Amino acid sequence: MKRQQMRGLVMALMLTTALPTVTAHAQVATSSASKPWMNTKLSADQRADLIVARMTPDEKLTLVFGYFGSNQQKPKFTPHAEARMGSAGYIPGIPRLGVPPQWETDAGVGVATQRESSDPYLERTSLPSGIATAATWNPDLAFKGGAMIGSEARASGFNVQLAGGANLARDPRNGRNFEYGGEDPLLAGVMVGAQIRGIQSNNIISTIKHWALNGQETNRMTVSSNIGDAAARQSDLLAFEFAIEKASPGAVMCAYNRINSIYACESDYLLNEVLKKDWGYTGYVMSDWGGTHSTAKAANAGLDQESAYTFDKQPFFGAPLKAALADGSVSQARLDDMARRITRSMFAHGLFDHPVVKGPIDFAAHAKVTQADAEEAIVLLKNDGGLLPIAKSARKIVVIGSHSDVGVLSGGGSSQVFPVGGMAVKGLGPKGFPGPIVYHPSSPLKALQARNPAARFAYDDGSDPAAAAKAAAGADLVIVFAHQWAAESQDYSLTLADDQDALIDAVAAANSKTAVVLETGGPVLMPWLPKVGAVVEAWYAGTNGGEAIARVLTGEVNPSGRLPITFPRSADQLPRPVIDGDHSKPELMVDANYDIEGAAVGYKWFDKKGHQPLFAFGHGLSYSTFGYSDLKTSAAGDTLTVSFKVTNTGKTAGKDVPQVYVGPKGAPLDGRSGWEAPRRLGGFKKVELAPGASTTVAVTVDPRLLATFDSKAKAWTIAAGAYEVSLGASSRDLRAKAEVTLAAKTLPVTYDGK
Ligand code: GLC
Repeated sequence: MKRQQMRGLVMALMLTTALPTVTAHAQVATSSASKPWMNTKLSADQRADLIVARMTPDEKLTLVFGYFGSNQQKPKFTPHAEARMGSAGYIPGIPRLGVPPQWETDAGVGVATQRESSDPYLERTSLPSGIATAATWNPDLAFKGGAMIGSEARASGFNVQLAGGANLARDPRNGRNFEYGGEDPLLAGVMVGAQIRGIQSNNIISTIKHWALNGQETNRMTVSSNIGDAAARQSDLLAFEFAIEKASPGAVMCAYNRINSIYACESDYLLNEVLKKDWGYTGYVMSDWGGTHSTAKAANAGLDQESAYTFDKQPFFGAPLKAALADGSVSQARLDDMARRITRSMFAHGLFDHPVVKGPIDFAAHAKVTQADAEEAIVLLKNDGGLLPIAKSARKIVVIGSHSDVGVLSGGGSSQVFPVGGMAVKGLGPKGFPGPIVYHPSSPLKALQARNPAARFAYDDGSDPAAAAKAAAGADLVIVFAHQWAAESQDYSLTLADDQDALIDAVAAANSKTAVVLETGGPVLMPWLPKVGAVVEAWYAGTNGGEAIARVLTGEVNPSGRLPITFPRSADQLPRPVIDGDHSKPELMVDANYDIEGAAVGYKWFDKKGHQPLFAFGHGLSYSTFGYSDLKTSAAGDTLTVSFKVTNTGKTAGKDVPQVYVGPKGAPLDGRSGWEAPRRLGGFKKVELAPGASTTVAVTVDPRLLATFDSKAKAWTIAAGAYEVSLGASSRDLRAKAEVTLAAKTLPVTYDGK
């Protein structure tokens, strides 16, 4: 029986059962009599069917039409009084039926505020950047971080959080990589999925975004990401598929860009075919802010809600949608489906049963949550001669650059969280969007000083390399903080800004005991790498970032971050050495040919082409060492299980992230096998071990990671034959291999990992 028929039957049954029958002695409470959808014993589907059946056409239209929540567009647009001032979005409720308003806040690292001076800046807790959380390879931390920022969203009166950035880092220069989960679909899907689950544990809706293939910021509103179906499903779409299965986000936000020349928010392929039909997604699709381009085309392609209509060329889901319903170009059934999907998500995620009420926030407790995330995100890239952790004997330590005396950098754009206590540095960066450049007031220098009372610290702001070099000479240790601000709406160069390479060169020439701490949104080039003793990637470390960095540099915390993104040696190694488009012409219709690499994103491209990265996907050092042994594989049906032992072979307790990579044995890279690259990340586990301790780990590999997608058959097909299972400390540090034979297997496109 088709899903729709079943629903009709259930509906009929329900109306006879759910509508209360008043008996002589039992008078069901009036609320359920007048609002049977408030019966929590019913499913979200049943409750949505009931409430939509009671809605007038205009009430349904209310649900699908969104407004901005900030004074930013005055006098053209003044936000509703009921909106949360300074917020991203607001959709009115339906008081007659008890439908709460939808109050929408950005985004992935905490409660953001649109930057308009007449709006009240909300000072809230910021997680480290999304790519930093991905670098922890620790889904529990991602969940806890999501739960924390979701609780701040709820306490601030929001019931929809526009988080869940899951776009793969196809280009390391993408200005929004800092918001996402890196270059691998499994890692991004697991980590972003965990964060979404955390957010939604507060009885609010999280989005997942930007659906899909939103791979660059240059010409972001017009660029067409051109890619075949199979390559898309084996890469970008797979990250969303994993995250949606793990977290059931209440909403998907369709992206600005085009896919194969069709805007994402009116792409029947993306919204109806893949998301709603193939995957059976039951939530709703909201547009990005300015991502709606039509009425009937978008509605019939699967768009369910126009966000903040004043960002669009005109309102498309307001009066024009009413007219489209009248002329039949959009059916009543489609409008009902839109309203049902929205209310279903609202029921499923507690917006009806647990209405948001503003409340207090325990910032001290939340600072600990973000700090724990930031500490595990830090990646020790290089550490020659054990320069780090800071020696107890160090008496003269020089700290240089990047405002490290007062704070840590954060990424710019709609996800910007304004710091509790105010910005550490004022007046930096663009006055308008995506500025300002915000430093969180958590000073690495002060945190280091507090932990090394016996040492004498000197600080140099790094503005003059010669002066910095002079200050560095003769020190027991020099720590140079280097920054690269990344922001929404612009891509960035791999070369450190403000000529910091010259600064690091000068300092390293004056003192070889130099450690570089990078505060970046993603990879950067390091021409000075051979001249420095240690390099640490601290990403954008969030509210307590200074503390987190200091605890790792002093050894209080043993670094355990692993790269979620390949650091290239040069842009020439990339599928598109020059990013397509022209930043100075935002309206330019641009094509980006993603079929060059197809599904071979990141390390897969490097493996396929035989390129040597500067630092490999999955790389990260520790103050200890870890050994792997007893690699075993077992294949039963479509499940491949890989087990192995991990031992802490060093003298310091610490965490490690053994990684399992899988691929056809001797995979021909001419595409015959359909595999995009020699191997894929098939599984991973973060383990914590005392010195000398061991543990046995078992991971199961999702069969889709052993398969290729057959677009004609609409199925995942595992070819019979020999496969190679590699166990490594990174995609390039493979320590052990095993072979396993798999039987041929075909899984339907509806396969959901269960
Ligand atoms: C922005 C972003 C999106 C954000 C939305 C609301 O332009 O693309 O991520 O959630 O608009 O601010």
